[in-house]
Amino acid sequence: MEAVNVGILGLGTVGAGVAKVFFSHREELEEKIGAPVKLHAIADLDITSPRQGLTTGELPLTTDAARVLDDAAVDIVVELIGGLEPARSFILRALANGKHVVTANKALLATHGEELFAAACKRGRMLAFEAAVAGGIPLIRAVKEGLVANRITSMYGIVNGTSNYILSKMTDEGQEFGQVLAEAQAKGYAEADPTFDVEGIDSAHKLQILATLAFRTPVRLSDIYVEGISKITPQDIILAREMGFRIKLLAIAKAGNGTLELRVHPTMIPDSVPMSAVSGVFNAVFLNGDVVNDLMFYGRGAGQMPTASSVWADIVEIARRLAAGQTATPQDLPIFGSKHLSLKPMEEVTSAYYLYVSAMDQPAVLAQVAGILGKNEISIASVIQKVRQHAKAVPVVMMTHEAQEGSMQKALKEINNLRVVVVPTRMIRVEDSPVS
Ligand code: HSE
Repeated sequence: MEAVNVGILGLGTVGAGVAKVFFSHREELEEKIGAPVKLHAIADLDITSPRQGLTTGELPLTTDAARVLDDAAVDIVVELIGGLEPARSFILRALANGKHVVTANKALLATHGEELFAAACKRGRMLAFEAAVAGGIPLIRAVKEGLVANRITSMYGIVNGTSNYILSKMTDEGQEFGQVLAEAQAKGYAEADPTFDVEGIDSAHKLQILATLAFRTPVRLSDIYVEGISKITPQDIILAREMGFRIKLLAIAKAGNGTLELRVHPTMIPDSVPMSAVSGVFNAVFLNGDVVNDLMFYGRGAGQMPTASSVWADIVEIARRLAAGQTATPQDLPIFGSKHLSLKPMEEVTSAYYLYVSAMDQPAVLAQVAGILGKNEISIASVIQKVRQHAKAVPVVMMTHEAQEGSMQKALKEINNLRVVVVPTRMIRVEDSPVS
């Protein structure tokens, strides 16, 4: 083969990182591929602004996406523009033109993955996406190749660096949520719309992609219960620490008895487990396979060079096949198993709970709250009543044993309807077995 020609859509942060790696590592990459590799065309709407660390004059820049998508010389199209459109149409066009595609676009795969993978399969092309989940951590490859002999039983991930940064700062410096979010935005960690990061949507996108691959079952975004971190207070964080826990935004998947539960929410985990030490913008994924047992992956989940590292992993895999004259097979794509798992409704999920009840300091308040929990078959593990900070309310903090989500939601409604409860009760789910 003369050379593998790569076309890039988008010369933003990640696109520039991919170009930088090309210039700094070209010789080793070509040795690893077994053929020369060329950047054939790079399309972006802005081809005049300087890109730090790159001499733009040396790049094959164009404002015309067709030079990447329709040029017969391009073998691999790398989509790094993000968002749903025109990214979706561009990928479909590239596949229809017989090109292999690499993408880092988690929102797109989580929303239109089924359509895009079907198009890739139909054309016998690869649609590779290592950079879409957990940035520089080679997690997709690990699940797809390294763990191929396993049935995955559970996954717990800190997969959004922005919310992990915010929770870490709130924990270490006692700052309020809004203050730290503004800082994260200023540092460029947050997505264009920070709601995606802090309300758990970005984590849900990544969980959709990972779960589809790991459990070989069709998963829709709407199957995932999603709750973000914007309501977490410094008070919850302090109380969690007093009780030996940290609060993390976890993406959780658990399979068992033919069912699959999928959820993203703030979670208290014991501060003795390795995952509680994952702080700042780092990501970590803890998973269990029935053959290998427990594994933990840790690294940078975002950023120019870690993400470029994953994009190149995909480019090299495809380029090696092209160099060897091998085609893609359906097994190169996420494929569903013959036995699908059924999605467990959130009401049936079980967990332990932290409750922060703000109640009036008067006789029988605790008895009323305990009575509601008992009636809903929720057993209390511990109770702390803090000294009164507010003119009327006293915080009553409870930890429960495991109970069903449906029972907890019913109990919460009843507790909040009590005349003595002055503000809505805060609830955080607690996981202590998985991440040890
Ligand atoms: N905004 C994402 C994060 C970037 O904070 O993790 C990587 O997907």
